[in-house]
This record gives sequence, structure tokens and C-alpha cells, in this order.
Amino acid sequence: MHRLPDGRLPERSETNAPSGAAQDALTAQTGTPSPAVTPSNPSSRSDTTANDLFDSVLKYTTELFRGTREILRESYIPSRLPHREHQIRQVAEVLAPALQGTLPSNLLIYGKIGTGKTAVVAQVRNDIQRRTDLSSLLTFVTVNCGNIDTPYSLLQTIGNAFASKETDRIPTGWSLDRVQVAMRNLMDARGGMTILILDEIDRLVARSGDGVLYTLSQLNTELDKARMAIIGISNDLKFTNSLDARVRSRLNEEKILFPPYDATQLQDILRDRAREVFREGVIDAGVIERCAAYAALENGDARRALALLRLAAEMAERDRAKRITSDHVVKAKSRLEQDLIIDCCRTLPPHCKVLLYAILQAFERRRTGVLTGDVYDGYTRLSQRLGLQPLHARSISNYLSELESLGLIRATIVSRGRGGRTREIVVDVPISETIPALEDDPLLASLAKPRGRNQMLLTNFDNPSRAAPPF
Ligand SMILES: Nc1ncnc2c1ncn2[C@@H]1O[C@H](COP(=O)(O)OP(=O)(O)OP(=O)(O)O)[C@@H](O)[C@H]1O
Ligand SMILES: [Mg+2]
Repeated sequence: MHRLPDGRLPERSETNAPSGAAQDALTAQTGTPSPAVTPSNPSSRSDTTANDLFDSVLKYTTELFRGTREILRESYIPSRLPHREHQIRQVAEVLAPALQGTLPSNLLIYGKIGTGKTAVVAQVRNDIQRRTDLSSLLTFVTVNCGNIDTPYSLLQTIGNAFASKETDRIPTGWSLDRVQVAMRNLMDARGGMTILILDEIDRLVARSGDGVLYTLSQLNTELDKARMAIIGISNDLKFTNSLDARVRSRLNEEKILFPPYDATQLQDILRDRAREVFREGVIDAGVIERCAAYAALENGDARRALALLRLAAEMAERDRAKRITSDHVVKAKSRLEQDLIIDCCRTLPPHCKVLLYAILQAFERRRTGVLTGDVYDGYTRLSQRLGLQPLHARSISNYLSELESLGLIRATIVSRGRGGRTREIVVDVPISETIPALEDDPLLASLAKPRGRNQMLLTNFDNPSRAAPPF
């Protein structure tokens, strides 16, 4: 589990702060973080010391990495996609008619997260685009629907991809009909064929229904000179069930399923990447296998496998180690899970955050499972303290199910004799990390109290055996 609510694995945020290794090095030398990380007098001695330290950190880093570590990031497009040859061929076959000036069929691509859907489509698109003689006839427009809030912004984004000058661009604030007409006109002015790639199309439908897909899927009947085919990419296998039958049959002309990777396939993917990014001999035997095995258990997600390898390398740097070992992978795994849990908690709706906070508090106090009645009482008290109108018990029950499906809590039915049955809840996250993460939210900030080290509790999450707590 432990994914963001949208099922994706978050990229760790990039900042200008020094890396863990750099910060550790600074702290190790001076006892406190170096003044060099704050504005300082360039001629001061501390700056020179900091520069020496930075030099040593940079020198150290190059012992593990051959080139840029960006190669392990999601944004990097690898030159080869092992174990996706068949899918690359299938996508290429669907798009091949475009090379001869014929409009390809619409295509839907399904597969669980991290199975290479986006990467494969990007590679086929790049291969076609490299044939520059076609560029005047064929336009690719790629939209990640995860970043699109409304049908308006989708049509605007598509239309603006055809705007050759600033004055042609569709602004905000028009009616949806007007945007639609402007988009059509811009496409017709360019003419030729367009392949519209709607990545994460299921999120568009979940957010704004299928109305805009209806518009797009019948656009060819309204365009004069231009023609458009749609490639939809989804990790929700059932998302077409919610579509209007006409939209479904138009989009579903061709369909390709991406199966999850198994552990051996993930090893090949990781080895390929490791060869590009690391110096020879810096990875211990078993490291790649372990990253692959963990990710194979998580639905065969290549993104997760790569994130584990990247974090393991960061852990090795932090230890100032000359090699990446299996221990670094173990540390990376727990770090990745914590990061994911914390990001997941941060994106919960407000009342769900209060509910989770109430559960964590109760669990921290009692160190045993908490009954739903007590959870509801705790939630109500906290809401009142925060000036919120508590939600009805039924909504809280739905939120409990959501927290359970996100893997943040586990609920078991317990019999209460004559009192009937109720649910007993245990926490499946590290309390010591999750409570402060929730308190970062301005909504819950007033609940924060100074927390000493001795308040760090072992939870199921911290216990590798994940045994049920004694009730
Ligand atoms: N066969 C492969 N070879 C090399 N790298 C791969 C392969 N498959 C996936 N990856 C890498 O794994 C990461 C995730 O792949 P990608 O984004 O294509 O997954 P996806 O199926 O689109 O996932 P999601 O449904 O979450 O969007 C990317 O960094 C990608 O480069
Ligand atoms: Mg994708």
C-alpha cells in the first residue's frame, strides 16, 4: 500500500537545501548546521570552511555516481524499455497508419501504476516525431489529466497547443462553448492529423465526468481540415464502465493491457538503469534483487523499484559508504514508506485528518485497539476544539473505510456480547512521524504540543512482524 490517494508514488520534493550527506557533513564538522547555508559574508572564514566541505561532499558523491543521478528520476526517459518490446510494437502498430496519412484508431491503454504506460507511449511518440518529414502533417498533443481541473482547462490546453502566436491563445473566462469553437478553429487552421494523448484519463472522468470526452471523441464530425485520434491512458481498469456507451465505444476502438512486471523483469530494468548511473562495482550483490523483490510485491511497479534504488544510493551517501548495500535498501524501503504515508496523510480531506488525528491520539494513549464509538467521541471533541462542525457518524464511518483502504489503519470486527458488533481500530503508521505531519496542517497546528523523544512509540508499522497488538 502506502500510496498517495491517487495511487501514485510521490517524487520527493526538490529544494535548494543541501542533500542529507551535505547537511550531515556540515553538522559533523561544526556541531551545528553551517552558516554557509544562510546568507553570509563571502570573505568570511566559515564560508571557506563550508566550501571545503562542499568540495569533499561533491568529491565523495562522485564515488558512487558515474553521471547525473537524474537518470534514476521519473522524469528521465530511458533509451531502452526492457520487457515492453511487445507493447511498444502494439502501440506502434495502432499509430502506423498515421505515417501514411491515414487517421489511426482511438486507443485505450490500461495497466497498474508503474507498468511503463507513459514511458512506452512517449517512446513511440518520440520515434514518430524523429521522422521530421511528418511534422507538418502530424501533431502530438500530450496532456496529463491529473493536472487538469476542468473541461475548460482541457480544451484550452489542447487549443493553445495549436496557437502559433500569443494573440491566438485561448484565455480564461470564456464560455465553454466559445472555447470549444476556438479550439476547433485553431486545429483547422493547422490542418493535418493530431494524436491527442490523454494520460491519466480516468482522473479526468472521476473529476469532471465524461462530457468533455464526448466532445473530443466526436470532434472529427465537426472539424473541416483537421482530424484527431485519441490515446487514453488509465490505471483504473474499470474506468470505461462509468462512460456513456457512445463515448466508450468510440474510445475503445483498440485496447492494450500492460501487465505488471515480475521481480526478474524489474531486475533487468534496474540493472539497465544502474549501469547508466553508477560507477562500476559500487553496488553489492543482492541490492538490485532486493529492490526488485520489494517492488514486485507492490504490484510490479517499476517507479517504486527505481525510487528504492535511488533512495538506497542516497542512504549510502549519507553513511559516507563506498558501496550500496542491502542494508541501505532496507533503510530506503522504510524511508520510502514513511514518505508515502506522510504525503498520503497530508492530502486527506480536513475532517478525515481530524479523524486520523483522534485515532492516533487514542492509540498513543492506550497502546491498544480503539473502538469506533471511542474514535467518534474523540473526533467530535477535537472538531469542537478546532471550531469545526462534527460530521455525522455515517460520514465518519465512510472516512474510516477510506483510511483503511489507504492502509493507514486496520479495523477488525469485534463482538460486544449484547451490545452487538463494533469495529476495533489499530494504527498502521508510525505515530511519532504521522502526528507531527498532521500538525503541520494549519487546521491542526493548534493541537501541537512539545513532544519529547521518549514519546516515540512502537506501532505495528514499526514492528516488522506486523503482529496484531494484544487486546
Ligand atoms: N520497461 C521499462 N524500462 C525502463 N524503465 C521503465 C520501464 N517501465 C517503466 N519504467 C520507468 O518506471 C517509471 C514509471 O513508468 P511509467 O511512468 O511509464 O508508468 P505508468 O504505467 O505510466 O504509471 P502510472 O499509471 O502511475 O502513470 C518511469 O520512470 C519509467 O521510466
Ligand atoms: Mg503514467
